[in-house]
Amino acid sequence: MNISSFHPPERTLMGPGPSDVNPRILEAMSRPTIGHLDPEFVRMMDEMKELLQYAFQTKNKMTMPVSAPGSAGMECCFVNLVEPGDKVIVCQNGVFGGRMKENVTRSGGIIIPVDDEWGKAVDPAKLEEALKANPDAKIVAFVHAETSTGALSDAKTLVELAHRYDCLAIVDAVTSLGGVPVLVDEWGIDAIYSGSQKCLSCTPGLSPVSFNEAAVNKISQRKHPVQSWFLDLNLVMAYWGEGAKRAYHHTAPVNALYALHEAVVVLQEEGLEAAWERHQKNHLALHAGIIAMGLEFIAKEGERLPQLNTVTIPEGVDDAAVRNKLLQDHNLEIGGGLGALAGKAWRIGLMGYASNKTNVLLFLGALESILSGMGANINSGVAVQAANNFYE
Ligand SMILES: Cc1ncc(COP(=O)(O)O)c(C=O)c1O
Repeated sequence: MNISSFHPPERTLMGPGPSDVNPRILEAMSRPTIGHLDPEFVRMMDEMKELLQYAFQTKNKMTMPVSAPGSAGMECCFVNLVEPGDKVIVCQNGVFGGRMKENVTRSGGIIIPVDDEWGKAVDPAKLEEALKANPDAKIVAFVHAETSTGALSDAKTLVELAHRYDCLAIVDAVTSLGGVPVLVDEWGIDAIYSGSQKCLSCTPGLSPVSFNEAAVNKISQRKHPVQSWFLDLNLVMAYWGEGAKRAYHHTAPVNALYALHEAVVVLQEEGLEAAWERHQKNHLALHAGIIAMGLEFIAKEGERLPQLNTVTIPEGVDDAAVRNKLLQDHNLEIGGGLGALAGKAWRIGLMGYASNKTNVLLFLGALESILSGMGANINSGVAVQAANNFYE
């Protein structure tokens, strides 16, 4: 065998995640590994909790990163909060709501589905109907930012409704955190999870989570033990909890946590509001270019995610061929459609560090030249100018 070190190509990551990682974060990750019970590491963990409280805009004590990707954060919320026989209303408007349903079933819960069209926001009226029809429901779950369709739902209204009918709210903020407002305390979100690799621009593999007192109470009153040993919050908190003795639970991914710490330091330095504004501005510039080219967005105005833009693939254009050319000729990655949108949409991420003017102009120029070269029916020579005008 003659295998040598792996050196990945340098790409521009404008897909649904992971997004481009800020070099500061990669540098933080390469700092010396220390023991995960070292007093200096414990000090860093305390700071991490504070930083994540800032990112989530919460005072929740139970705020920490799960040592695994967003899917584990999702699972952590469901296995801890859903007990066998609990009715859980799951609002689904894309792929990730479907995964929530899987989690409910596997936790022994009963799914009450509220299905919306893919590409649209979750409809609060439909949720209210389900809440009225199921007065014994315990939990409402929905995806704030559906990465599979580019739709943003009104988390504040959905959480308010859940509470009006005595339900707890579980919110997926994997793609929303850091890109659009996520106000955990103000909106009263009971349990929330995110991912490191989207608008936090960190390396993939960690999932910040936060639980309020109502959620913690439900967990502490469980009649059945949490079926997952690794994700049982009662055990995890012996490691991450306030004043906890940092008892060994699992070996924390030390260097990955340095990276997340740095990512949220970067976010704090920029300021949440400034980060949300930057995402919005670059989205609007991209939007101007896409529309000028004659292409269309899937999500409608007011429900569009600035950090994840879903654009309809023009008739007769080969989705995979375009994405391959972007990768091969321009070192640029975008995503294809998922589920119902497979082959019908491109997903263009402008997340975190990748949300900048250079990337917007680079992508529009590259897409336009590829589509023109393929003889696609688009307006040529206008997209970059339209986006550029937006910045002036
Ligand atoms: C909305 C949403 N939820 C959950 C996940 C799962 O996260 P991960 O891939 O980090 O496990 C993703 C990943 O793209 C996502 O976009």
